[in-house]
Amino acid sequence: MAILSYKQHDYICRENETVLDTLLRENISIPHGCRQGVCQSCVMQSVDTSPPDAAQEGLRENQKQQNHFLSCLCKPEQDMEIDAIEQLDFVHEFEVLAKEMLNRDTLLLRLSHGKEFTFKSGQFINLKSPDNTVRSYSISNIPNEEQHLELQIRLLPNGRFGSWVYHDLEVGHNISASSALGNCFYNTERQEQGLLLVGTGSGLAPLYGILQDALRQAHKGAIHLFHGSRDAEGLYLREQIQQLVSENNNFNYTACVSGDYKDEHLGLYSQGRVHEVALSTYNNLNGWRVYVCGHPEMVKQMQTQVFLKGANLEDIYADAFHSSSS
Ligand code: FES
Repeated sequence: MAILSYKQHDYICRENETVLDTLLRENISIPHGCRQGVCQSCVMQSVDTSPPDAAQEGLRENQKQQNHFLSCLCKPEQDMEIDAIEQLDFVHEFEVLAKEMLNRDTLLLRLSHGKEFTFKSGQFINLKSPDNTVRSYSISNIPNEEQHLELQIRLLPNGRFGSWVYHDLEVGHNISASSALGNCFYNTERQEQGLLLVGTGSGLAPLYGILQDALRQAHKGAIHLFHGSRDAEGLYLREQIQQLVSENNNFNYTACVSGDYKDEHLGLYSQGRVHEVALSTYNNLNGWRVYVCGHPEMVKQMQTQVFLKGANLEDIYADAFHSSSS
């Protein structure tokens, strides 16, 4: 148990509780998103003591030196006086250009950005709603002259942020956003490498961006996209992806259904979990570059398996999607 001092009030941080959990339990509004140490939207500052090392993982060196820490990872080892920091990260205001359903629970959000915002397809941005809820979404299109970017928002039952986007955020409204973050994107080194892209659900978003970028930059090696879902309705953008298959000899696409597989799916979809289908297709991944995005458990298993099949660690890019329904 530790005492947290925050804005002239003291709060008890219970055994095994994080700073973020304590403050939220006390009904204090703190920006947060993933609660997994990924989105960095919950950064706070310790005023009087060094935060635990584990709470600074992934922060930049100058942030560490200022005792910044991720409140969702911080389990205090002693009493701490803490403060909010100015959320300089939300430096952009994007205008909503369009909202469109891609399937029953995935919404395409198209935003207009100014020229000061730059991105690589597959990177993610943090978005903030008026109640300080923050969520991370991957960019699924390539940079373009119109200066728009596209996100695929998964609408979860009782998901606060998705519900706000669906019901309240209208075309013409503005939304606060961070700069583009993350290293899950295409680069033009070793263009003869095979690219293996594997994703579940809205894990397709970064992969679709990476795929379009690789094709635009005339990637020379084979490219194979595997997209999986429990049922066929969970798969989307199939026509657009098939169009890319017909235009590019080096590109292959496999859609997988893991649960409710019907006779009419034969020839359209592969049966099975997407990573198992992908791994059974390729025995040797030596020299391949692998991008894997979506369900955290699938991402973890895939990272291990592709390494065991010969892919180099530095050629494995992963983006685990931690869903939050709050
Ligand atoms: S890093 Fe703490 S909420 Fe995402």
